[in-house]
Amino acid sequence: MSFLTLGIETSCDDTAIAVLEGSRDVRVSLLASQTADHAPYGGVVPEIASRKHQEAILPLLRQVLKQASVVDPAGQIGLIAVTAGPGLMGSLLVGAMTAKGLAQAWDVPVMPVNHLEGHLYANVLIHPELAPPFVCAIVSGGHTELVLVREWGDYRLLGATRDDAAGEAYDKVAKLMGLGYPGGPIVDRLAVRGDALAVDFPIPLKGTRDVEFSFSGLKTAFLNELRARGMVGETLGEEDRRVWDLCAAFQRAVAESIVDKIELALKQTRVRAVALSGGVAANSALRARLTDRIQKRLGAGVFFPPPALCTDNAAMIAAAGYASMCRAREREKTFVSDLCFAPDPSWSLWNDE
Ligand code: KG4
Ligand code: ZN
Repeated sequence: MSFLTLGIETSCDDTAIAVLEGSRDVRVSLLASQTADHAPYGGVVPEIASRKHQEAILPLLRQVLKQASVVDPAGQIGLIAVTAGPGLMGSLLVGAMTAKGLAQAWDVPVMPVNHLEGHLYANVLIHPELAPPFVCAIVSGGHTELVLVREWGDYRLLGATRDDAAGEAYDKVAKLMGLGYPGGPIVDRLAVRGDALAVDFPIPLKGTRDVEFSFSGLKTAFLNELRARGMVGETLGEEDRRVWDLCAAFQRAVAESIVDKIELALKQTRVRAVALSGGVAANSALRARLTDRIQKRLGAGVFFPPPALCTDNAAMIAAAGYASMCRAREREKTFVSDLCFAPDPSWSLWNDE
């Protein structure tokens, strides 16, 4: 009989639940989005996020189990994998407490999963050929990190952002133009219509020998450009050609800076493959530049998940949890579930900190 893992993800603003069969067959993966609840604030409001998770989680669970044809969870679910950090404490608690309750009621083991390890596993669901060593770029609203995956379970941080995350910068420039939230997908859509060379934004940390990112200077350059063009305080719309050009030029600078540092990381580690993950991994310019420069020019392997697996989801958490359980069983010949784990908002994934 096939092994089913129930994945639960509530680290930020989306309630997500999935049922995974074996290591990579996604039976069902659903999401209750809170985007509309946070949109008026232009960013995630932690207090609202945890309340909304509370409301959404049990109805979503019912729906997932029904669609996955799980009629007897105690008999059919073999493992509950739940995000235990990093993330917002109030949000993490909802997922963790739900997982603990279900684990006790069904007498099923539970595996706490690091959200970032989940992002690493998003690619495995779609690219079974992806094997360590590889470099993974986790680029989302809360993270911009390059990770060396030496082995599954053995991760080294190569570099991170000094200030804003890439997705955060997208959200902020969209907010400056009054374009809505989350900004990334909107800017990406409008950038396609603009001229990326219309504005010469600086490429962050270009030419430095460190694998590091910085987006706050670019954000300031963007605001200065809006001021110089007299566009501050004006109601800008999606049909404005100036907006398209600004989106395209901003997007180019972000993509160039990420791909520059990926190239540097590959050279420094002599690794021949890179995987993208996180919401910004859905970005069309980033995908195109990465394919051009890293795959076509350097001949290294380039992997990215489909957009639904780039952003937060529970299928990747289930996959990471299942793999973690398999490694524990191999190592210790058994896997003992610990119901006493506590969510950790700043849980680090790296071995060398
Ligand atoms: O991974 P994710 O769903 O949540 C976090 O863990 O942060 O990422 C959300 C972020 C948001 O900042 C959003 O604007 C950005 O990913 N994003 C994009 C695109 N789609 C989502 N950024 C650029 N281009 C996109 N197509
Ligand atoms: Zn995430």
